[in-house]
Amino acid sequence: MIRSFDPYALLRPLIFRMNPEMAHHAAFTLGGVAQRVPGVLGLTRSLCGQPDPGLAREVLGLRFPSPVGLAAGLDKGAELLPLWKALGFGFVEIGTVTPRPQAGNPKPRVFRFPEENLILNRMGFNSEGAEVVARRLKRRPAGLVVGGNIGKNKETPEEEALKDYEAAFRAIAPLVDYVALNISSPNTPGLRRLQAPEQLKPLLEGVLALRKDLALERQPLLVKLAPDLDARELDATVDVIVASGVTGLIATNTTLDRNIVSEMNRAKVDALGMGGLSGRGLKIKAREIHRQVLSRIPPHIKLMACGGIGSGEDAAVALQDGAALVQIYSSLIFEGPMLVGRMNRDLAERTYYSG
Ligand SMILES: Cc1cc2nc3c(=O)[nH]c(=O)nc-3n(C[C@H](O)[C@H](O)[C@H](O)COP(=O)(O)O)c2cc1C
Repeated sequence: MIRSFDPYALLRPLIFRMNPEMAHHAAFTLGGVAQRVPGVLGLTRSLCGQPDPGLAREVLGLRFPSPVGLAAGLDKGAELLPLWKALGFGFVEIGTVTPRPQAGNPKPRVFRFPEENLILNRMGFNSEGAEVVARRLKRRPAGLVVGGNIGKNKETPEEEALKDYEAAFRAIAPLVDYVALNISSPNTPGLRRLQAPEQLKPLLEGVLALRKDLALERQPLLVKLAPDLDARELDATVDVIVASGVTGLIATNTTLDRNIVSEMNRAKVDALGMGGLSGRGLKIKAREIHRQVLSRIPPHIKLMACGGIGSGEDAAVALQDGAALVQIYSSLIFEGPMLVGRMNRDLAERTYYSG
């Protein structure tokens, strides 16, 4: 009964009047303090409910208590891991972490459209850098699957991208359960070009060689893709990934396609300038990508589905399509933290779902 009460619904008007980055910082400051106060995590767990044991699944050799995870970009610095766990997430992808600290793009760089659960962002990998994040990961809570999403610094030329991925991998990989290579953010100039087979192949070979040197061959390595590749490009990219020995894909990152915005907001979004779009409007486009990827990959390669997922039903659709796991970001911003528990309960009630 208590779970039908959602305090976020009361706070929502206030939160959406705040500047998005201020709201983010306020939430992180509050969350950081709260997770250290004795009893708060326990209370959060009982308010949100923990994933039904039937939701647990083993993917890529890791045990996920729920298939619902937090997508990269929200907790870039691994600051709130105990809290995410208490909210019921089955896993959390931290990052994108760049090897060296960088500020990201000038503000304002994130814009919300609550009428249609849409976000435009051009954060540009604001990152405290791999060293700081690694220090925090050393104190990560037990019993939560943590992925480390890594990228390159803005000033690093494309030809030297591998060096950055290697540096970030070296620092982060030994402290996480899986690593995701982000080559699909639209906000770092040239990054998405790394998806092209001739650039991707040497990048993957380099990272896989380092993974072997560090005796981490058994650790899952995934590549995160953009939704803006055309069908032919996507096939070519997926083929390179499959042939390389990488174990999984995450699709999708944000889109540059402004057609996902409603007529009502199109001009407003255009006036805000560059950035990637995420949220409800991305769902259909992302699903097409999921289906195409799934038709191309062998069963031992796994897909984490991301993009516009905002309910148990959306998650169920992606899982039924064949994704192994799902990730959410924008819907959490619009629906609030109790969404995770609701998605878990909804999934657990679906009879098809056998874990
Ligand atoms: C403000 C913001 C920042 C993001 N930062 C990252 C990031 O650092 N690395 C990354 O791989 N994806 C990042 N993403 C993309 C999300 O992880 C996700 O792929 C995308 O938002 C689509 O999912 P959604 O529709 O559930 O939000 C970011 C998204 C948003 C809205």
